[in-house]
Amino acid sequence: MPLLEARDIHLSFGGVVALRGVDFTVERGQLVALVGPNGSGKTSLLNCICGFYKPQKGRIYFNGMDITRKPPHKRAALGIGRTFQTPYIFHGTVLDNIIVGYMTRHGGIINSLRYKAMREAREQAEILIDFVELEQYREAHAEGLPMGIRKKIELARILMWNPEAILLDEPSSGLSIDEKRDMARFIQELHEVLGKTIVLVEHDMSLVYDLSEKTVVLDAGQKIAEGKPEIVIQEASVIKAYLGE
Ligand SMILES: Nc1ncnc2c1ncn2[C@@H]1O[C@H](COP(=O)(O)OP(=O)(O)OP(=O)(O)O)[C@@H](O)[C@H]1O
Ligand SMILES: [Mg+2]
Repeated sequence: MPLLEARDIHLSFGGVVALRGVDFTVERGQLVALVGPNGSGKTSLLNCICGFYKPQKGRIYFNGMDITRKPPHKRAALGIGRTFQTPYIFHGTVLDNIIVGYMTRHGGIINSLRYKAMREAREQAEILIDFVELEQYREAHAEGLPMGIRKKIELARILMWNPEAILLDEPSSGLSIDEKRDMARFIQELHEVLGKTIVLVEHDMSLVYDLSEKTVVLDAGQKIAEGKPEIVIQEASVIKAYLGE
């Protein structure tokens, strides 16, 4: 049984069709790259999986459970974590921005957390701050920090609820070469050391080659190719989607 499965997803916004009957399957422990030109439907598919968008047709399964009608916070609590193309950063310190992730699994407002839970949340956040190498920014105001740091903050935040599946929407976009290398290392560690199942939306093909076991290509809302990255990227339909005729 796959960990994550989207079946025959159709999504449109008025006259704009974002997804046209997309099937997308991720096995437990797999790292799947989702690629395609701008506007091909990658973010829309992630939004359907995590519940931000409601497809007009199709079903989403997680761990064998039909989650099509579940709201985003319930899907998150079941074990789906997701980062955004533009990270969401709240007013507060880096530590605050990470700690809020604790509530996703445990519920409640941070002020009302019992002392023991608050201490546990803080300990967990400190471990993750070390993991994403943000020690020196712990008490810094998160708003206004550079993109590379904001992306690390968001990654650490979703790890607070220890999701089994992690959906990453362009984690390396807007990053310097060094920051990209760090991000690739974190993703690899999440996958190989912690055994996380990962969906990676990515434009940087060298990252796709290096990290993914399976690559799925979308074009104009349709899946046009699927398989090992080195084979898929050479397919004529994929080259045409990226480069035109
Ligand atoms: N909330 C929305 N309202 C209206 N149209 C939308 C919305 N979200 C996505 N779309 C449209 O759906 C199509 C797919 O967009 P999507 O953002 O999923 O593409 P993408 O593959 O993530 O592109 P990019 O690589 O630029 O991030 C586009 O035509 C886009 O304009
Ligand atoms: Mg997108």
